[in-house]
Amino acid sequence: MRIGRARVVLPPGGFLQATAVAEEALAGLVGEAVSEATSIADLFCGVGTFALRLAERARVRAFDASKEAIAALARAAAAPGLKPVEAAARDLFRRPLLPAELDGCDAVVLDPPRQGAEAQAKALAQSRVPRIVYVSCNPATFARDARLLADGGYRLGRVVPVDQFRYSAHVELVATFAR
Ligand SMILES: C[S@@+](CC[C@H](N)C(=O)[O-])C[C@H]1O[C@@H](n2cnc3c(N)ncnc32)[C@H](O)[C@@H]1O
Repeated sequence: MRIGRARVVLPPGGFLQATAVAEEALAGLVGEAVSEATSIADLFCGVGTFALRLAERARVRAFDASKEAIAALARAAAAPGLKPVEAAARDLFRRPLLPAELDGCDAVVLDPPRQGAEAQAKALAQSRVPRIVYVSCNPATFARDARLLADGGYRLGRVVPVDQFRYSAHVELVATFAR
């Protein structure tokens, strides 16, 4: 499938957003929120739904626990015209990116599963990253992690709900934080 300018061969069981329209909306909101960043970390990146689009104009470091997703992203990132993408398999619940590893990043995008990203939010709260975009499919774990970021000095900016789970009470959201 196409993601921006890149072409990704999906691994079996690979994650995709629920609808193509919502994926475009989420990617648009994420891109807008980090439009000035030149070095971006994409955490819980999957096959590169955001990373590959962001790599059209910024260097990207991308992490996900799924080795298959990372391999698919790394192959797709070789497309001509993209900035360098460094993709690595990493369990971010057990081994979140540490503040020192985030030095030099203008922005972090994170899009964890429903459990949220408690360990990563704690590490981000101690970092100097100026801008964070949090994409969440679970407002309860998002609220827990947003508290951690706020206690670390981040200000919550815009929160946009994206109603991509039809006929269900679930909701996706994109939130921005800055310090
Ligand atoms: C909601 S999906 C988002 C994927 C991608 N950002 C997208 O929009 O297609 C969450 C991702 O988190 C990854 N994941 C789940 N548990 C993880 C963990 N402990 N550490 C790192 N990644 C994890 C999954 O493999 C999945 O790709």
